[in-house]
Amino acid sequence: MSKKIIGNLIHLKQQDRIGWIGLGEMGYNMANNLQRYLTSRSLTMTVWNRTPAKAAKMHHHGARVAKSLEDLVAQSNIIFTSLKNDEAVEEIYEILIDLAGQVDHSIIFVETSTIYPTLATKLKERLAVTPQHTYLQCPVFGRPSMAKAAKLIWVTSGDEKAIKKLCLYFTTMSRSIIHLKTTDVARACSFKLIGNFFVVGTMELLAEGLTLAEKAEVDQESVLKFIEAFFPAPMWTECSKRMTQSSRVLSKDLGFSVELGLKDVGHMRQLAQETGASLPTADLAYNHLTQVKEQGKGAYDWSTMISALRISPAPSRRTSEESRTPQRIGDEDHDDAEDDQADIGLKKNFSPPAYDA
Ligand SMILES: NC(=O)c1ccc[n+]([C@@H]2O[C@H](COP(=O)([O-])OP(=O)(O)OC[C@H]3O[C@@H](n4cnc5c(N)ncnc54)[C@H](OP(=O)(O)O)[C@@H]3O)[C@@H](O)[C@H]2O)c1
Repeated sequence: MSKKIIGNLIHLKQQDRIGWIGLGEMGYNMANNLQRYLTSRSLTMTVWNRTPAKAAKMHHHGARVAKSLEDLVAQSNIIFTSLKNDEAVEEIYEILIDLAGQVDHSIIFVETSTIYPTLATKLKERLAVTPQHTYLQCPVFGRPSMAKAAKLIWVTSGDEKAIKKLCLYFTTMSRSIIHLKTTDVARACSFKLIGNFFVVGTMELLAEGLTLAEKAEVDQESVLKFIEAFFPAPMWTECSKRMTQSSRVLSKDLGFSVELGLKDVGHMRQLAQETGASLPTADLAYNHLTQVKEQGKGAYDWSTMISALRISPAPSRRTSEESRTPQRIGDEDHDDAEDDQADIGLKKNFSPPAYDA
């Protein structure tokens, strides 16, 4: 590339004025990596967070703290958002769309939270009323520790030109970028929910298997050794270790809370219902997460879901003769089947709770 072209590119980048909204576990670590890159180019970003103390922390890393959302919109032509849930995203975008309607410059919005697909479509459509603006939906995979290490998996959807323009910034926060190559921003949300289904499904499986091992008094270390040897995937090995070390399961600082888990599992179940798919594993996981939340552990790491399986009473052992006789629902004495359902945390007439997250 000629010196002139490189010079032009640097000039263009210098015209980018980046704003960041939402400095939670994910947002703070992502914004920090992006700011580090900007600092190396003598640039800075403007940040805003509902709780101002978190924004002040970013100030120490070279970011400018916006006085208000209005100030941030006036200062930025690229705005990233990382917010807790659909309600927070909707509330903040309500204000952003209104403010964006009052400025002359164009803004690319990059929404990175995990939200329900129809909300992404709604926000894109609402923003389209002011056509100079662009809406991208770019959810991310990886815990806060991965965000800190700039090792997220970044997913893109929306206007291709805008994605190309911002790709360099995405790279500063991630180890891999999956381009969905679609302007349908809802797809990225569905993609994220499907990815998280694989995560929670694995967790449900591990929680059940590890609890069975505990109750059958099989040596825990040997089970972990088997998992490491037979399923040498970080998700399997790390999650099983976390679940067997109760102090880590209960720790709140590992990243993904039971509450956020309920939001995501609620969304994937709703998506399944609306598309005619079936996710029985997600139903089980939702029930276990709900039980854990009801015990006041909504802020704990979501691997705490194993405790919902642990608390179930040990079933009375059937004789070998009884266990050979299949139990049919409808048999007069099907109490055992009911008990078994109760044991795994399912009530007989369990109906999915409202999609409340
Ligand atoms: N944690 C993970 O492992 C992970 C991984 C991938 C994706 N995600 C997704 O990334 C998003 C952020 O997750 P997180 O772990 O960073 O959550 P978090 O630590 O709870 O942070 C949430 C952020 O949203 C802000 N917020 C919440 N309600 C708000 C409202 N009504 N108005 C304005 N701001 C509001 C919070 O502000 P305050 O500081 O004022 O509370 C905070 O900045 C979520 O959608 C999550 O599902 C999380």
